[in-house]
Amino acid sequence: MYEMIKKENLVPNIVFMRFSAPKIAQTALPGQFVILRVDEKGERIPMGLAGWDADEGTIDIVFYVLGTSTAKLSTLPEGASLANIAGPLGTPTVVEKFGRVICACGCFGIGPTLPLIRALKEKGNEVITVVEGRGPDFVFWIDRLKEASDEVHVVTGCGKTAWANDFIAEELESGRKVDRIFVHGCPFMMKVCSEASKPSGIETIVSLTPLMVDGTGMCGACRVEVGGKTKLACVDGPDFPGHEVNWDGLVIRLRQMIPEEDLSFNIWERENWHKLTAKPHKPPNPDKLRERVDDGHRGACTSA
Ligand SMILES: Cc1cc2nc3c(=O)[nH]c(=O)nc-3n(C[C@H](O)[C@H](O)[C@H](O)COP(=O)(O)OP(=O)(O)OC[C@H]3O[C@@H](n4cnc5c(N)ncnc54)[C@H](O)[C@@H]3O)c2cc1C
Ligand code: FES
Repeated sequence: MYEMIKKENLVPNIVFMRFSAPKIAQTALPGQFVILRVDEKGERIPMGLAGWDADEGTIDIVFYVLGTSTAKLSTLPEGASLANIAGPLGTPTVVEKFGRVICACGCFGIGPTLPLIRALKEKGNEVITVVEGRGPDFVFWIDRLKEASDEVHVVTGCGKTAWANDFIAEELESGRKVDRIFVHGCPFMMKVCSEASKPSGIETIVSLTPLMVDGTGMCGACRVEVGGKTKLACVDGPDFPGHEVNWDGLVIRLRQMIPEEDLSFNIWERENWHKLTAKPHKPPNPDKLRERVDDGHRGACTSA
């Protein structure tokens, strides 16, 4: 039913997939997510929407291969169908004319940032995008981000502006006007970016990814503390003001199932390891990487 139309290994461990899901594609908005199940026995996997096409009836996701469910998903070939996809879920990102906006993204967060940038541009904002990666091999879609944004800066852990939080701190210190900041990435990145902007008080919106079960506000699994109050990320979020998030609480809750997750992955991998090695990621072409990163790279490292 939910057929995979396209699959691409973007960078090591990060996969793009496009699915046929016409009803979701018709109503999706930036900041929303879906919950999918690979098969009848599969757990429910929340994934941010990295794109959609109402005419074609398709939705896009970009995901990091972490444990059992994402590994299982990553082994599906084009043409395979998922058991189900529920969505669009969550409260859409508030997109207005803010002025000059920084969109910081890294890892799988580059995916949901693209439709957000497009929506911000449609409202007349100036969008400065900063893309973070562990190295040039870990950033992708720079061409698409450049097409959508006014400026794109790539930071890969080198030089003075090593990471997205350094970029934000420098922009704010330079006195350049910044009216709002959006951050999509791992919890650590969102935390340090929020810390970088906190002294300025500039609203910094993060997209939280706690463990979820139903995704509709019934189970309480996704609760997070924001501004001293308990919120449900699936219905109240996933967008929240980063300056008010209890980051330590979020990380403790994210780690609560590690023994079970490890056991689950060990059992799955023992029977399925050959699927993970069946189609190894094509090694990136170093010249292409250099081209992709040099233009807009703020750090001092030039080697790809
Ligand atoms: C609203 C929302 C949107 C999301 N969007 C995306 C997306 O667009 N792309 C994407 O790759 N992932 C996204 N995630 C996270 C994704 O759902 C999890 O990575 C996935 O469910 C992990 O399942 P797993 O069985 O493969 O790994 P697990 O076995 O569940 O986890 C493996 C390891 O990763 C850690 N972990 C699990 N979930 C998370 C998490 N959310 N953040 C940080 N560490 C975690 C665990 O503690 C464990 O150590 C989103 C989560 C939410 C709630
Ligand atoms: S996932 Fe159950 S309440 Fe949010």
